[in-house]
Amino acid sequence: MQGILSAERQGAVLHSLRSGQGTLSGDYLAAARAVLRELVARPQLIQRLPLERKPGVYARNLLAGDEGVSVWAMVWGAGSATSIHDHHCSCCFGVVSGTITETWYRAIDATRAVPTAEQQREPGYVACMLPSGPNIHRMRNVGPGEAISIHIYGFDHELHASSIETEYVAVGG
Ligand SMILES: [Fe+2]
Repeated sequence: MQGILSAERQGAVLHSLRSGQGTLSGDYLAAARAVLRELVARPQLIQRLPLERKPGVYARNLLAGDEGVSVWAMVWGAGSATSIHDHHCSCCFGVVSGTITETWYRAIDATRAVPTAEQQREPGYVACMLPSGPNIHRMRNVGPGEAISIHIYGFDHELHASSIETEYVAVGG
């Protein structure tokens, strides 16, 4: 077990996410939402973990993972943001603390995208995205404090460096 959750909790989380239908299926997404709802409802459980923090950027912490899924806690320093990206796998996330600003984009070609919507994701918020999209987005923490979110991806963390398929640059907005 490489994650930082206790072995018992990692086993329980990974067992809950096991689906005979694969990580794009409705059953799996429902299970991922249920795991996230449980985790975001217990912020103290996450906050007392030895999470890495990186001022000004986001830090990924592997909580649990196997050959099918990986579960991460992201600690978002004030002002940190992802690139504008889409995913090669299913991506479910929930907000534990702080506020995540999520901006959605529409691709206008292979490398450029225009913003189409923006929402504040507050603690308790849970959502899932499929790679069949469109699901181009950027997440950021505008601060002033840090934010923590949990992400469940349908990829093996030993085979893929991240869930990102394509990155874009913003035009307009
Ligand atoms: Fe994403």
